[in-house]
Amino acid sequence: MSKNHKYKGWFITFEGPEGSGKSTQSQRLCDYLNKNGRDAIMTFEPGGTPIANQIRSVILSRDNVKMTPCCEMFLYAASRAQHVCEVIIPHIEKGGIVICDRFTDSSLAYQAFAREIGYETVGAVQKIATMGIGPDLTIMLDIPTEIGLERTFKKRNPNKIEKSADRMELENLEFHKKVREGYLKLAALEPERIKVIDAEEEPDAIYNKIIAIVEKKIS
Ligand SMILES: Nc1ncnc2c1ncn2[C@@H]1O[C@H](COP(=O)(O)OP(=O)(O)O)[C@@H](O)[C@H]1O
Ligand SMILES: [Mg+2]
Repeated sequence: MSKNHKYKGWFITFEGPEGSGKSTQSQRLCDYLNKNGRDAIMTFEPGGTPIANQIRSVILSRDNVKMTPCCEMFLYAASRAQHVCEVIIPHIEKGGIVICDRFTDSSLAYQAFAREIGYETVGAVQKIATMGIGPDLTIMLDIPTEIGLERTFKKRNPNKIEKSADRMELENLEFHKKVREGYLKLAALEPERIKVIDAEEEPDAIYNKIIAIVEKKIS
């Protein structure tokens, strides 16, 4: 099986718009793998280490509405550089499985496509930030924008929605639609690595599809 790094383990990412079920399904996959005797860890971006979590708060703070697309791109990349070295590489190096909720495809969908920085530029920055490693498999949960956003805000206390939304979630519908389109362009460019799943289905149906795809990849 082809790998996107030189290490023994596996690196699997979850991608998709807000509310597509990434956090739900990545946790379920991690539990499944550990129950079946694999050494899997679950992590997320932006964040995943103390330093990266501090960068995360800068990125997502609603106070930072003046942040430029370029600054945003580099902050995500800075957080990723720390996360890759501190968490991802050490675990795949010892043969484990890393499951990561968002990774480079998020930067491409959000900053390259939706913020319109461009695929080449954002792609070049990813090469530096990741030390050249990439996911072996990416589960892309695709959902119509309105449904994803509705799910995102429904899980919060309805009285606190306005206060709890982060800087990215607060972007307008048009922005989030460009994110979804960006993701679908990425999937079309790399069909071997990126598997698109219809995230409108029931959680159990989605889970079963993910298990089948992952088992085929790693066994
Ligand atoms: N397949 C699904 N159908 C309906 N609701 C879902 C589904 N998957 C997740 N949810 C719910 O939608 C909300 C967002 O899911 P979450 O996993 O946090 O998405 P993400 O991490 O992609 O933003 C949560 O309240 C979750 O329980
Ligand atoms: Mg999530």
